[in-house]
Amino acid sequence: MSAKKTATVFRCANCGRVEPRWLGRCPECGEWNSLREASAAEARPDRAGETFPMPIGAIDPGRGARIPTGSSEVDRVLGGGLMRGSAVLLGGEPGIGKSTLLLQICAKAELQGRILYVSGEESPAQIRLRADRLGALREGIEVFSSGDLARIRGVLETVKPVLVVIDSVQTLHAEEAGAVPGTANQIKYCVQELVSWAKEREAGLFLVAHVTKEGLIAGPKAAEHLVDAVLSFEQSEAELRTLRASKNRFGSAEELGIFRMGEKGLEEVADPSGLFLVRREGGLPAGVAVAPVHEGSRVLLVEIQALAVPAKAGLSRVYSERIDSGRVARVAAVLEKHTGMRFSDQDLYVNVAGGIRLAEPGIDLPLAAALYSARSGTPLPDGSALAGELSLAGELRPVRQMRRRARAAKALGLDLVLGPAGGEEGEGKEWRVARDIREALKALLGGKSGAAAGADSGGSAGGSAGGSAGSAAASRSRARSGGPRAGRDGEGGEA
Ligand code: TYD
Ligand code: MG
Repeated sequence: MSAKKTATVFRCANCGRVEPRWLGRCPECGEWNSLREASAAEARPDRAGETFPMPIGAIDPGRGARIPTGSSEVDRVLGGGLMRGSAVLLGGEPGIGKSTLLLQICAKAELQGRILYVSGEESPAQIRLRADRLGALREGIEVFSSGDLARIRGVLETVKPVLVVIDSVQTLHAEEAGAVPGTANQIKYCVQELVSWAKEREAGLFLVAHVTKEGLIAGPKAAEHLVDAVLSFEQSEAELRTLRASKNRFGSAEELGIFRMGEKGLEEVADPSGLFLVRREGGLPAGVAVAPVHEGSRVLLVEIQALAVPAKAGLSRVYSERIDSGRVARVAAVLEKHTGMRFSDQDLYVNVAGGIRLAEPGIDLPLAAALYSARSGTPLPDGSALAGELSLAGELRPVRQMRRRARAAKALGLDLVLGPAGGEEGEGKEWRVARDIREALKALLGGKSGAAAGADSGGSAGGSAGGSAGSAAASRSRARSGGPRAGRDGEGGEA
């Protein structure tokens, strides 16, 4: 930090362009003898957010005006448009559509003034071709190919854009921050400079960051705390894309944006409630549960799929990308403890159809039901939809908006909605209520569930339930082991 403050640069008094060396003529505006010595610290605008104390009532709230991005999904994720003076980092794998999305925003954002699209990755001609394809030719968009911070700052000072896109932070470099582009230090320094500029000029700033498959963004990670919002753009199914905020100073970080990549770029998906639902001929296979999940302000129906196979060397492992594997392990442990179905000698695979990532608490119950169904080989009833959080004690905890979830499920023809109690209106009428995991499994599987038997006899599987062909094995093994740790086909019996 101190090194960069004492570094000397030369700033054009006419256009503000900063050069690392003195030049007789400004390469930006062509003015002669206009470069003046300045410290790198002076060469940047005053630090954003540095103000004098002011009575709260005297502060102009207009500073916070938002720019509608022209995309209702992006606006939704940002919390109602892009805040002026704010910086948004957009991360995603290469090829996912970040440049496409931002160029579309440039074309459709509702604003007066100029727009600057800075690309260190593509030539202006390539960007022009994409704009043609997207129908994104708009007067006021200026394209500039560079990753050199000093040049970019000079251009910002002359163009004075209202909206700026930097594509990408990995191509930014500044001499003051060391010679090697792409290092975490370079990215941090350059992003800090650009963010300060945007705050000072009350412009909206989008910064693109490439992220690897593992989600690790060494350099951009360092920039995350410098920006106001961090969005990640992910692929779910082939042409579906999701946009989420992992940080948002000006809105919630829970909203999910959904897009479809088409011929003419990214299109919004207006009613995605049934988008991820798998339509089948015939009933659900074992190991599948349908969950109405509450994502931001919408309810989506998703299918959670589970598979349990005997673990090699008895060491249980969880393979789950779309749901946190710690959660899968916890839910399996709760099931093992409270239903007697053994999971600790199983490898567990969990997936979400459509590839959407799920993190909300309400998926505990459908996840538990999918695991139980997979392990017992008993399918859940057709037309069932489940929501609820599970405590370690096996109780079903209330979740947000259970009534809306129930209605969304029913609108898609799923009539057996099961969820927690919690005093919400519609409880018991719009959805069936279960108090704990055993009651839930009993409601779903009736006599076919070992848990149901367990529930009846206060915790130890009695082996009296069953009767259907699908669960005969489970009943057999329970009868043999006679304890709460019974599993299927005797695998769990020798505990
Ligand atoms: P791009 O925006 O370049 O991705 P990123 O900036 O995240 O690296 O998008 C690249 C992909 O999107 C490319 O494979 C082609 C596809 N695409 C479409 O399917 N339709 C379109 O209209 C456009 C512009 C791109
Ligand atoms: Mg790109």
